[in-house]
Amino acid sequence: MLPSSSETIAETRAAVASARSAGKRIGFVPTMGALHAGHASLIRAARLDSDFTVVSIFVNPTQFGPNEDFTRYPRTLAADRELCGAVGTDLIFSPTVPEMYPPTSRTIVEVPALQDVLCGRARPGHFRGVATVVLKLLEIVRPDVAVFGQKDAQQALVIRRMVADLNVPVTIRVHPTVRESDGLAMSSRNRYLDPTQRLHATCLHRALVAAENLVANGERSIVALQSTLAGIIQGTPGAQLDYAEIRDADTLDVMTALDRPALVALAVYFGSTRLIDNTLLNF
Ligand code: PAF
Repeated sequence: MLPSSSETIAETRAAVASARSAGKRIGFVPTMGALHAGHASLIRAARLDSDFTVVSIFVNPTQFGPNEDFTRYPRTLAADRELCGAVGTDLIFSPTVPEMYPPTSRTIVEVPALQDVLCGRARPGHFRGVATVVLKLLEIVRPDVAVFGQKDAQQALVIRRMVADLNVPVTIRVHPTVRESDGLAMSSRNRYLDPTQRLHATCLHRALVAAENLVANGERSIVALQSTLAGIIQGTPGAQLDYAEIRDADTLDVMTALDRPALVALAVYFGSTRLIDNTLLNF
């Protein structure tokens, strides 16, 4: 069965208020659509922890830079509705741009430091757009729990920090990355890859596994690990390294020694398609 859907903030608030007054716990998965099995697993996780699951589908213009893929970002609403229905979504909120950003809108949300490193360096303004739209969506849906993917590890950290700093009453859950059978992390942008690029795109996962194996065998040098990651990416045809970094898993501070939980994060271009992936090293 297809879920109910709403394009307006008022209708969404009314539907959620009625579920809440029936005693239901509200789960929320914000997305930009072009849904795949990774999103399906986030929705299932939200469902397990709630009685009424809302999925937002909104390609948020403020998180795209001027030369990024906002206009060509895949918009597949009919297929997205089917997927949402198949995994038991109760309500889809798919607002228009003016509904979310009327011309009078001015306020932005910034999470300094966390937003400026890793992906924030190549995508200035990206996390400001993400934080702003996620705060607005949380304020519209007012969920008890919201679920995000670990693939976007920096985004999850920015959102956790924002929610804690602004006392937003929601539990944030971060769900493991879902991968294709050859290890490539699922992403709506994978569909931009041509067959050769798709073949070589497994280098991100291979590099992360190589780093994990080195650490399991006792390697503790950040420099050595980063250089292994970079070497694997740079040795892959068509791959252009943006960054290969190991940083503190909570603060994203630079680490000089591998002595606490660390995030190993990669961003790699194949042509104009930018792929990211990461793994956590826990000690
Ligand atoms: O991860 C995404 O799809 C987006 O960044 C999000 C969280 C839906 C905000 O637009």
